[in-house]
Amino acid sequence: MKSRQRFLFSCLLLGACAALLSAADAPPADPEGPAAKEQRLAWFRHDKFGLFIHWGLYAIPAGYWKGERSPGIGEWVMNRMKIPVAEYEQLATQFNPVQFDADAWAQLAQDAGMKYVVITSKHHDGFALFKSAASRYNVVDATPFKRDIIKELAAACAKRGLRFGVYYSQSQDWHERGGAGNDWDFPSNAAKDKDGSFDGYLKTKVEPQLRELLTNYGPICLIWFDTPQLMRDDNQQYRGKALTDMVRALQPTTLIDGRLGTVGDYQSTGDNVVPPKASDDPFEVPATLNQTWGYRSDDHNWKSPGEMIFKLVDIVSKGGNYLLNVGPMANGVIPQPSQDNLRQVGAWLKVNGEAIYGAGRSPFGEEFGDYAGNLKDRAGKPVFLGFNDWRCTTKPGKFYFTLFKIERDGPLAVFTLPNFKNKISSVYALADAKRSPLELKTAADGRRFVNPDRWVNDSIGTVLVVEIEGTKIER
Ligand code: GLC
Repeated sequence: MKSRQRFLFSCLLLGACAALLSAADAPPADPEGPAAKEQRLAWFRHDKFGLFIHWGLYAIPAGYWKGERSPGIGEWVMNRMKIPVAEYEQLATQFNPVQFDADAWAQLAQDAGMKYVVITSKHHDGFALFKSAASRYNVVDATPFKRDIIKELAAACAKRGLRFGVYYSQSQDWHERGGAGNDWDFPSNAAKDKDGSFDGYLKTKVEPQLRELLTNYGPICLIWFDTPQLMRDDNQQYRGKALTDMVRALQPTTLIDGRLGTVGDYQSTGDNVVPPKASDDPFEVPATLNQTWGYRSDDHNWKSPGEMIFKLVDIVSKGGNYLLNVGPMANGVIPQPSQDNLRQVGAWLKVNGEAIYGAGRSPFGEEFGDYAGNLKDRAGKPVFLGFNDWRCTTKPGKFYFTLFKIERDGPLAVFTLPNFKNKISSVYALADAKRSPLELKTAADGRRFVNPDRWVNDSIGTVLVVEIEGTKIER
């Protein structure tokens, strides 16, 4: 090539590279389009496990009001007992959680193997855990404590590399006439926006508070909106566009959950609802450790660590995330059983985290169980009969089989692999630091199985790594 030709050729090459690079760098044009969503979701798809925190004034009554037991979840006490705003508000003057230690909370999340933290910045009772110019009904202006909880927790999370997100009740606000839900103080307005003040409430409280949250606390990984009552007006017109636009403008990487009232970045399942089957669309299961979100002094119905590990693996094997909740007490301390159980999940993850973080969903599906042909629930829908013996998560060239119930052949533990054609290059237990290969055997009918004997822990889940040839599974 002559030098002039070479020069022209290099220019062309450089130009092409620059075009490619800028195409890759440029943010996708439509923030609601699939490409932009996928970009925002990268961390979420990787991290899998988060800590939910429900904390507010309701931690003081802890499920009881004037000696009477309030049924149901703790943070709903104001609604269930129809407590007038003027009375409930007084709780703020007693809110003084002197033992609150943001570092201890963030440390617990980290010990549990969680990667993100989401706290109720304002729940349905309307009380904000952050300093707000939009409403004095907040922890800094209305309590003797005067400390900005959101600020302290955001900083403690950032210090540990945990992502930080906020729950924000955009619709229900029992403290405000315009907010949805309070039909005992505001019967003329009730929960139906009869006097048309819902839009005013969105403008004067929700929008400015959302702006504060997205401006004053560093990166917000996600906003967890909830119970989208009234987010569509009488003509079914969506009222929350200003909220979505604000999130996208102030922090383009912040995720919006599935309960704003329009399509979010991912699906939020019902509370404690694990979908029966796997999905490629991202989802998150919000779940309780006992039966309440906000602290209740009488709820000791704790899930065992084994149950939580099963749920975590189950959810990840279906393509989702697990957001597990704690309800700190009014003194600022997270109940000890919550801490102990979460730390045991963390100990399991320390050994087996490779099967969870960044792992893909199961390519099989038969391990989830199936709908019964002739059993119907009360609503007349077929009952799903879950099969909970094992779950599978994946990384390129690898299957992680987590065994929860093991078949035994005499004294021998047996795990029969599901059917696939790829050659297997090695099998070992993730708990085995030496990764010594387990012998793979083939039964007379061609099915492959291993005896993971000494690695089996019946109560908590044993992970077997199966390395295969090829990255695509052949069935
Ligand atoms: C429900 C409840 C709420 C709780 C939430 C968590 O929607 O209204 O109290 O915060 O679930 O998923």
